[in-house]
Amino acid sequence: MLTNPPGIEDIFPDRMDAWSRVIGAAREVFRLSNYREIIIPVMEYTEVFARGLGDETDIVTKEMFTFEDRGGRSLTLRPEGTASVVRAYVSNGDYNRLSSAKFYYCGPMFRAERPQKGRLRQFNQFGAEFFGSPDPYYDYEIIAMMHAISRRVGIEDFALLLNSIGCGSPDCRGGYVVRLKSYFEERRGELCEDCRRRLEKNPLRILDCKQEGCASLKKGAPSIADHLCAACRGHYAGVKEHLNAASIQYREDPFLVRGLDYYTRTTFEFVTDRLGGQNAFAAGGRYDSLVESFGGRPTPAVGFAAGVERMLLVAGAADAPGSGLDVYLVHAGGEALRQALELARTLREAGISADLDPQGKSFKNQLKKADRESARFTVIIGEDEAAGRACSLKNMATGEQEKIPAQMCAAMIRKALPDYGKGHGSD
Ligand code: HAM
Repeated sequence: MLTNPPGIEDIFPDRMDAWSRVIGAAREVFRLSNYREIIIPVMEYTEVFARGLGDETDIVTKEMFTFEDRGGRSLTLRPEGTASVVRAYVSNGDYNRLSSAKFYYCGPMFRAERPQKGRLRQFNQFGAEFFGSPDPYYDYEIIAMMHAISRRVGIEDFALLLNSIGCGSPDCRGGYVVRLKSYFEERRGELCEDCRRRLEKNPLRILDCKQEGCASLKKGAPSIADHLCAACRGHYAGVKEHLNAASIQYREDPFLVRGLDYYTRTTFEFVTDRLGGQNAFAAGGRYDSLVESFGGRPTPAVGFAAGVERMLLVAGAADAPGSGLDVYLVHAGGEALRQALELARTLREAGISADLDPQGKSFKNQLKKADRESARFTVIIGEDEAAGRACSLKNMATGEQEKIPAQMCAAMIRKALPDYGKGHGSD
């Protein structure tokens, strides 16, 4: 039997209702704040991610699916969406010339991580990116959208972690990194092998290390909060003011640096302890220099992305409803089957979903199938009903059953379906 590679999953129809609810909530929230969808490629030239995410990040050094095309150019399956959206924004001059632009995206991402609960090699994200202003309002807008999406899908017990990692100037993060480096240098022997390398190239990355030894060293490390320049402090205060005004609660975490190098100023994560080791289900931040480093006009930007699979784990797929089928038709074969097929056609034309089994054996067997499909109505056409061009219509929620002329069936079901017209092909 052929199998799928580890960490690469199929998503069967029984997960699709919950899945669509999450994506639907995201799309609606994006629409309400005027974000519009962009479809970015699933693969890019490798330098898009190497340059965008940072040479020293775990994603670039260990987790990318990279291969050569037939012409010998190195391609990589996208591990995230931000670098691609920036590349697209910069390469399309029309957008880069606009004073601001709002995008959102949904789709699969690929990271060669060690698979475990909530950590996949192919996973799905939705995310949003704003280009064009350093105003802290936009940091708030991005965070508020993710907050609203969480609420809409019923995730309540989460925390929003917030930080500002400042800008690169020497009187801000630049100076902080020097102090951080000397702090860890004095404790070099206690660092893991990766962090000893990070110490030379990018000491900030050490704050993101999950190894126990490094994580506990972090507790005594100098804090970025004490090293922000006046402009970055003001920006951070602005973000918090907007969040306070909207009653969005957050917890400040001065060590939240995130695993990607493009961030400046705001960083944030939505976390929950319901995910075990993988505690973030959404994250993002500001990246004011990335557009310029990709060759675009200097353009401040901020964004976030959420993992769909992780959100489903947190939201609990337990309440996954059935297939959403409106009508299952049960028939006695022969003339009754012919009439059932005709009625199925009529129902479908009227925008009512209908299913039946032409080989349907016993009534009992077909009723079991109706049950398994969680159909809202069962329509039964036995020999008696067929003789009088009638059918028995059973409302599966109330258990009520009545015999009606077959030609009235569509109209009666239509009247009884509370959401007819929403997602049903209404006329
Ligand atoms: P990220 O934190 O790397 O940020 O990923 C965002 C979310 O994607 C995570 O919070 C998680 O829910 C999901 N995720 C990441 N890796 C996996 C995995 N291996 N398996 C399952 N889910 C995963 C970014 O990707 C940035 N591009 C966010 C951003 C947008 N920053 C600014 N704009």
